[in-house]
Amino acid sequence: MPATRETRLVTKRFGDEQAKTLAGYVASGGYQALKKALGMQPAAILDEVKKSNLRGRGGAGFPTGMKWGFIPKDAKTTYLVCNADESEPGTCKDRELMYWDPHLLIEGMAIASFALGCHHAYLYIRGEMMREHAVMQAAVDEAYRGGLLGKRVAGSGYELDITVHRGAGAYICGEETSLLNSLEGRRGWPRMKPPFPAVKGLFGQPTIVNNVETLMNVPFIVEQGGGVFAELGMGRSGGTRILCVSGHVNRPGVYELPLGITTRQLIDEVCGGIWKGRKVKAVIPGGSSMPPLDESELDVPIEFDALMTDPRIKEVEVRPGVKFDLGGGKTLRTMAGSGGVVVMDDQADLPAICARIMQFYAHESCGQCTPCREGTGWLARISQRVADGRGLPGDLELMESIAHGIGGNTICALGDAAAWPMLGFLTKFRGEFEAKLAASVAGAA
Ligand SMILES: Cc1cc2nc3c(=O)[nH]c(=O)nc-3n(C[C@H](O)[C@H](O)[C@H](O)COP(=O)(O)O)c2cc1C
Ligand code: SF4
Repeated sequence: MPATRETRLVTKRFGDEQAKTLAGYVASGGYQALKKALGMQPAAILDEVKKSNLRGRGGAGFPTGMKWGFIPKDAKTTYLVCNADESEPGTCKDRELMYWDPHLLIEGMAIASFALGCHHAYLYIRGEMMREHAVMQAAVDEAYRGGLLGKRVAGSGYELDITVHRGAGAYICGEETSLLNSLEGRRGWPRMKPPFPAVKGLFGQPTIVNNVETLMNVPFIVEQGGGVFAELGMGRSGGTRILCVSGHVNRPGVYELPLGITTRQLIDEVCGGIWKGRKVKAVIPGGSSMPPLDESELDVPIEFDALMTDPRIKEVEVRPGVKFDLGGGKTLRTMAGSGGVVVMDDQADLPAICARIMQFYAHESCGQCTPCREGTGWLARISQRVADGRGLPGDLELMESIAHGIGGNTICALGDAAAWPMLGFLTKFRGEFEAKLAASVAGAA
C-alpha cells in the first residue's frame, strides 16, 4: 500500500513479482516508450529530456539533458554507463529499483543509448548486491531472447548490447571516473577532470554516466512528454524523488514523493513521526556526505535548489506562479544529494555519529591525493577522541581547519564528502561538541 503522499512513477511496480518477467512487464505497459523512441529522431528525445527538467539522482542533481548535450556531435563511438554502485550511507533506493523493476532500467538505458548514438551500454552494479545482480542479469538475458536487445532492438534497425558488470565493493568506484577506470580493468582511482567523461570517458570515448533512478525516469518522459514530467516537479527540478528514510522514525522506508515535500512533512506524514514520542534533533537530507539540518530548517522542500549552498538563489518556484521564499537568501548549506534521509532524535549523540561518518570516509579514501588521504584520517581520529571524551583543547578548531583544507582541494568529491558534514555538524551543533570537550578537559584536570 502506498504511504500518504506517495507519487509512484518509477516505483509503481514495487511489490509485483510478475513485473520482473518480460511478459509481466510488457503486460503492464512496458517497452511501449522504447518503441515510441525508436520512431523518433534522437535529437527530439534529447529535447524532451531537456524540457523535462530531469536532474541526476546520483547526488549532484546535474541536469540530465544538458549532460547528454555535451556529447560531441561528430562522435563516432559513444558509451552509456549506468551507475548502480550505490554505497552512500543512508541510501538504498537503486537496490530496490533494480530488484523490483529491472526491465524499466533496461528500457531507460535502451532509450538513452538510442538518443546518444550508443551501441554498447554498461550496467556497473555494486559487488555486494548479489540478489539485484541476479535479477538484472536474468532480465537482460530475457530482453535479448525477446528481441529487445541485440542486433535489431524491438524489430528496428538499431543495435544495442548491454553488459552487466559487478564492482568489488569500493565506495570510491561510484565516483564516475573511478567507475570508468574500474570498468576498464584498472585500479578504481578517480581521474582528473577535465576532460569530462562526456568528451573522453570509457576507453577514451565520449561517455554518459547516469544513476539508476535517473535512467528509470526516461521511459515516462518519452511516453508522456518532458512537459508533463517537469510539471510534476518544482522549480528547476522535474518529476518525483525517491527518499530512503532511516533512523529514529516510526516507519523508515523507501518512498517516492513529490519534490516539494518538506522534511517535516516527510517525518510526520509519511514516516509516522519520531519514534518513542521523542523530538527530532537533526536530519541528514541526502546521504552522509550532506551537512545536517537542524530543527529550525525542516520546513524547506527536500529539493536540489532549496537545500543547496548557492547564496544567489533566494527563492524557488514550487509550482508555476507559487514561490517558496528561502528567507532572503538564507541557505541551508546542504544538498539533496542521493536521497538518503537519516533522522536523529533528541537523544542522539551527534559527536559520536559525526565520528562514525568520518571513519567511513577515511576508510574509503582511495589515497590518491594528500588532503583527502591524510585529512580524512586526521578527522576520523580527532572526532573519535572528542566523541569518546578524550578531546584536547583546540580540537574543534583543528577539525575545522583540516576540513577547510580538504574542501575543494582534491581530485574528486570524496574529500568534500567528508569535509562538508564535519563543518555542518560543527557549525549547527557546536554546543554538543563543546560540552564533550569541556567534560574531557575537566576530567583530565
Ligand atoms: C565518492 C563518490 C561516490 C559516488 N557514488 C555514486 C553512486 O554510488 N551512485 C551514483 O549514481 N553516483 C555516485 N556518485 C556520483 C557520480 O560521480 C555521478 O555524478 C553520477 O553517477 C551521475 O549520474 P546522474 O547525473 O544521473 O546523477 C558518486 C560521487 C562521488 C564523488
Ligand atoms: S579526494 Fe580522496 S577519494 Fe578522491 S581521488 Fe583524492 S584521495 Fe582519492
